Amino acid sequence: MASPLRSSFHFTKTIRTSNYFKRNVTTSAQPQKKEGDISAAFASLSGLSFGPLEPRFANVKAHLLSGNEEALHNSWIRLLKSLREEVALIAELGSTVIPEIDFQDIDKASSTFRVEHKKRGVAVIRNVIPQGEAQSLKQELRDYIQANPQTRAFPKENPQVYELYWSPSQIKARSHPNLIKAQRFLMEFWHSKDPNALISSGHPTIYADRLRMRLPGDSRFALGPHVDGGSCERWEEEGYGRGKVYDAIFRGKWEDFDPWESSCRLPVVNDMYQGVGACSVFRMFQGWLSLSETGPFEGTLLVNPLLSRSTAYFLLRPFFTPKRPAELFTKGAQDDAFLAASNWQLKPGPSSWLHGATPGRGQELNALLHPHLNLKMPTLQEPGRSAMVHMPKVNPGDYVSWHCDTIHAVDGVHTGSSDSSVLYIPACPLTINNAKFLVRQREAFTHGWPCPDFGGGVGESKHVGRPTVQDLEAVSADDGLRAFGLKSWDSGEDGLAEGQRLLLERANKVLGF
Ligand SMILES: [Fe+2]
Repeated sequence: MASPLRSSFHFTKTIRTSNYFKRNVTTSAQPQKKEGDISAAFASLSGLSFGPLEPRFANVKAHLLSGNEEALHNSWIRLLKSLREEVALIAELGSTVIPEIDFQDIDKASSTFRVEHKKRGVAVIRNVIPQGEAQSLKQELRDYIQANPQTRAFPKENPQVYELYWSPSQIKARSHPNLIKAQRFLMEFWHSKDPNALISSGHPTIYADRLRMRLPGDSRFALGPHVDGGSCERWEEEGYGRGKVYDAIFRGKWEDFDPWESSCRLPVVNDMYQGVGACSVFRMFQGWLSLSETGPFEGTLLVNPLLSRSTAYFLLRPFFTPKRPAELFTKGAQDDAFLAASNWQLKPGPSSWLHGATPGRGQELNALLHPHLNLKMPTLQEPGRSAMVHMPKVNPGDYVSWHCDTIHAVDGVHTGSSDSSVLYIPACPLTINNAKFLVRQREAFTHGWPCPDFGGGVGESKHVGRPTVQDLEAVSADDGLRAFGLKSWDSGEDGLAEGQRLLLERANKVLGF
């Protein structure tokens, strides 16, 4: 099917809404990404294997290493020691390590929840949307898919992940006042060292992601441990290096790395290779709203809840190599002798390996490339003790979130007896870049094209029952519309810091208000 033709010039277009948005707004027409599904986002789902990258990545690594050799080696030794304890603790605690809170308690969250959430980067917020309402969203979703059999999905012959961005259910869930409140609560765990940075976690913005409706028995949507938000970009000067996000780690002071500092993320380019599925906005948390009752091994999410240490590990891993490889140790000795810090050294000579990173794809991890993290995926047959832990059982209306640097995965096989369904709804703050994205996303919404970060094509432009701006307005006439870029931000709002006020004014200009 031919892609809709998009011109490369700027134009003005009138988008009609009943009360708020009857004016010309500037929209920026962008070329679409090529058509695709979720398999294009990861090297392993595309059948690619990992290996050395093009030689320039050896220079990227050499530049980071230069002058920091001793500090990095010492830092690595400290990190391995810390991981030894923390990884074992997670494997022992399993799902209970993931902090939980009920939606009705988020205004008075306990200090235990706060401390654990900061350490783990993962949370379950129970009952964000009433169960009955969430179940209705699922039925409405099924009706929309049934009415539109042309909907693209992965895999084609037995769909589990649908290329849907604008179904009535997604529109309602993203703008639901409770969900927006939950996102605010979560994003306020971030802080900015620069009080004037143009970022506000108190003003969530919408990012139109897809959904999973995984059926019992499925083993195709088996997404191993990975991290979203690009891969090679985390080492590159023109990627995360623009904000020096991981500088502490690359200087040999991993303990100083603060995964919750937001201003350093503003200049980041996390999609240098126009990857399908790469997220080009600043997304503080990925998250989903559950539409089903789903437990461990039932096609659900697994996480490695060791935020800062795991990030430091997978970023430093390409600089180090074992003195003696695992296969030279007897099986029983691998855990101790092979993993021991004394068996690891700075990799001599140039190397362009960035373990699990492939330009244009997500960062992948596995037990072979990242042996100290104990990432072996548990299965029903071999539950084992892994540092990849399942989400606890969730019910319709529960919201699950994980920090943008979190290693996560999806069950290899869905062994449950009913669908495992979620709407992916990340938590994104207002920033200038995110406002620019809203302009493009708003345009895609009005045409029914896929969200601009994902594979292009006609998307839902011909879908029956696709919501309009008026439908969106009916769900949430204020916060929801604003979060979508369809209503101006109120820069006169009480209690705004100076940076926030300036941000709202500038965002309004970007959005054409
Ligand atoms: Fe992911």
